[in-house]
Amino acid sequence: PHIVIAIDGPAASGKSSVARALARKLRYVYVNTGAMYRAVTWLAVDKGVPVVDAGRVQQLLHFTKVECGVEDGQSTILLDDVDPTPHLVDEAVNANVSAIATLPDVRRLLTEKQRAFAYDYDVVMEGRDIGSAVFPETPYKFYVDASPEIRALRRARQGLQDSIAARDKVDSSRRTSPLVIAEDAHVIDSSNLTVEGVVGEIFGRLKQ
Ligand code: CDP
Repeated sequence: PHIVIAIDGPAASGKSSVARALARKLRYVYVNTGAMYRAVTWLAVDKGVPVVDAGRVQQLLHFTKVECGVEDGQSTILLDDVDPTPHLVDEAVNANVSAIATLPDVRRLLTEKQRAFAYDYDVVMEGRDIGSAVFPETPYKFYVDASPEIRALRRARQGLQDSIAARDKVDSSRRTSPLVIAEDAHVIDSSNLTVEGVVGEIFGRLKQ
């Protein structure tokens, strides 16, 4: 059985940088599940399918080949052989991804793909529901948080137009696998920590 380190948290909490750095340090595969939800969102937007239309999104997914893989130690996703990476932080994707992520059929498909990574690799997997729903049995659960002000500042510094407060609200209130702190997760407030600081704290706990 492979090791799964789950890193969850709200938008712009710093979990992506932390998860990537931790995976590199451990030589585990870094899996960005937000990128998977973003990829499906881009697909729907690109094909003109309304993201609130669960039936049409499901139909679109049914007729699209969704392939996940690993390259250079990171997860990849292809939709009908197209790499959506250049579009994942488009404004339209930011604005619609939380709506897509409420759809149970989308979550079921992507959760299955996420679990499949751990058949083959030790992983550091980053998202919203990894510790609570995708791998509830892993003992290695971390929840990285930061104050709303710091998170808004971090996103602004990336030069991205993104209403993180709106996303957090939808992510926390949806019925299927909402953003919650898993009961046995170790919570880290990254507001006053560097990426290395958070990685160090996680690393310290893993060794205990
Ligand atoms: O912008 P940030 O890096 O914080 O977000 P992300 O990790 O790229 O995730 C984008 C969106 O995907 C979230 O706002 C959620 O709506 C959704 N998501 C989810 O529902 N479950 C996950 N495991 C990961 C992302």
